[in-house]
Amino acid sequence: MSSINLAVFVSGHGSNLEVFLQNKQQFQSLWVVSSNAEAHGLTRASNHGVESHVLPKNIDWQALHEALESRNIDKIFLAGFMKIVPASFVEKWHGRLFNLHPSLLPNYKGLRAIERAHADGEAVGVTIHHVVAAVDAGDIVLQDCAVSKEAVVNMDLEAVIERTHAKEHELVQAWIDQLH
Ligand code: GRF
Repeated sequence: MSSINLAVFVSGHGSNLEVFLQNKQQFQSLWVVSSNAEAHGLTRASNHGVESHVLPKNIDWQALHEALESRNIDKIFLAGFMKIVPASFVEKWHGRLFNLHPSLLPNYKGLRAIERAHADGEAVGVTIHHVVAAVDAGDIVLQDCAVSKEAVVNMDLEAVIERTHAKEHELVQAWIDQLH
């Protein structure tokens, strides 16, 4: 077990959150924060007996920061969190805030990264990186290819998306494993 108190921020499906939940014994504590009251990730958290919190529509980032501090959170992992995190919050969590992105950064920053890489016939992959104020721009922590440029041209988008999500789950597991 690591001595880490981890917060995982989600907005939806939460398949990457599921990897954290399945590893919950690896953490001193896990706290799930969702920007969406309907997120399936909240059901996943409750199925694992992990506490969660739903953010209001207009997020009070200072209040959130204080709630994280009061729980002694050490690191935050953004796993499909669809809100832009303001620079003031990013600065407070510098070096302790991570994001998962479905591309081989610095290629294909932003939304619909898999779709755009597939349409261009470019390699598709997954990156875990430090969060800085600019979107998808911080130092890379872990990165791996999911579908090579050679393979992508012969695959339909659905298959590429499926392979990329499976690779995301692997990379999240690798990130958890390297915390010890
Ligand atoms: C993942 O593709 C992640 O890389 C992106 O949002 C998606 C979240 O998927 N940032 P899930 O909610 O973890 O299933």
